[in-house]
Amino acid sequence: MSFRRASTGATGTWFVGLMSGTSLDAVDAVLIDWAEHRHEVVAHHSEPIPDHLRAALARLCQPGGIEGDPIDQVGIADREMGELLADAVAALLTTAGIPAGRIAAIGSHGQTIRHRPPDGATTHPFTLQIGDPNCIAARTGITTVADFRRRDIALGGQGAPLVPPFHAAAFRHQDIDRAIVNVGGIANVTLLPARGEVSGFDVGPGNCLLDAWVKRHLDRPYDGAGAWAQAHSPDASLLRALLQHPFFGRLPPKSTGREEFNPGWLDARLRAFPALEPGVVQATLLALTSTVLTQALAKYPTVSEVYLCGGGARNSALLADLAARLTPRTVATTAALGIDPQWVEAAAFAWLARETLQGRPGNLPAVTGASRAAVLGAIYPG
Ligand SMILES: Nc1ncnc2c1ncn2[C@@H]1O[C@H](COP(=O)(O)OP(=O)(O)O)[C@@H](O)[C@H]1O
Ligand SMILES: [Mg+2]
Repeated sequence: MSFRRASTGATGTWFVGLMSGTSLDAVDAVLIDWAEHRHEVVAHHSEPIPDHLRAALARLCQPGGIEGDPIDQVGIADREMGELLADAVAALLTTAGIPAGRIAAIGSHGQTIRHRPPDGATTHPFTLQIGDPNCIAARTGITTVADFRRRDIALGGQGAPLVPPFHAAAFRHQDIDRAIVNVGGIANVTLLPARGEVSGFDVGPGNCLLDAWVKRHLDRPYDGAGAWAQAHSPDASLLRALLQHPFFGRLPPKSTGREEFNPGWLDARLRAFPALEPGVVQATLLALTSTVLTQALAKYPTVSEVYLCGGGARNSALLADLAARLTPRTVATTAALGIDPQWVEAAAFAWLARETLQGRPGNLPAVTGASRAAVLGAIYPG
């Protein structure tokens, strides 16, 4: 299997993937051409989330964050997000110059507003993604597959991460042990041994705390290439305090979200460090992300190539820090394997939609902890 970014003339079946992760930055949309022996991202589009919707989603994501009627607010955001996802598909198809009638299906992740996976204490684990698939199917006329995570949760799994089997399909090498590191709001790793079982798990915060801190102090959505963090040195005591979070000590299968890693959690840790400069905190948060990733990969010494994807792959300070910590392993982005890091996760949901429509399971029990593999999602006919 190979993925190529530049279109060489579509010959197979076209699928759309839609992803909007914990960062609440944008809806990423990709169009993939699945031909018999070649699969390529032929078009992509990033649909910004309007400020008022981002603010509403952020309130829904924050436990206890809603004032007023929660059901109305979830219902309205579900509908608005559904319309935005349909907008993203329309813009993608305009960019690609392809009519909707030629698309086999859309795979839509939706926006997670709460993720409460099994953790030994939760009595009723659940995960909730919104962005009404009925809207997407009705507006585009394209069969839409959505709600991928809840079957896995129903089978005792974490419902996450779901990207590892796609990483295996797209990036596995027959002789070299590889790892794929997805740095979105939350970071997750996939281990792709040349021989043996694929594994993967959430590692902890990727960009979510870095983004929140830069927003608060510099009023910017993110620290670009990581220049603010790079201009300071991390504080070792604060880093040790942050690493005390029990999530880091848990064994996989495990997954997490903004419920555990949010500005309130950071502020509570910072109370013991009132004199730290904001730039030092930013540098420490970057060190936190690279430390937890390095610790996760240390358990897999045969992995010699590490590829980053997600928005964090564009943070060159993070990339440089990781490369230094992981020496002598090779550290690059998935661009080196044929898919721009920004589109990998959306591509995974196009792939999952295809698996579902072909009746194949989409989860890996070794990753999520589900009692068995299952066909994921619900199908909304176009
Ligand atoms: N041009 C950029 N330079 C550096 N970092 C970026 C850039 N664009 C996005 N990011 C970072 O990537 C994040 C979004 O990454 P993404 O993979 O979409 O995460 P998620 O899946 O959580 O939405 C942003 O919040 C920001 O931290
Ligand atoms: Mg995103």
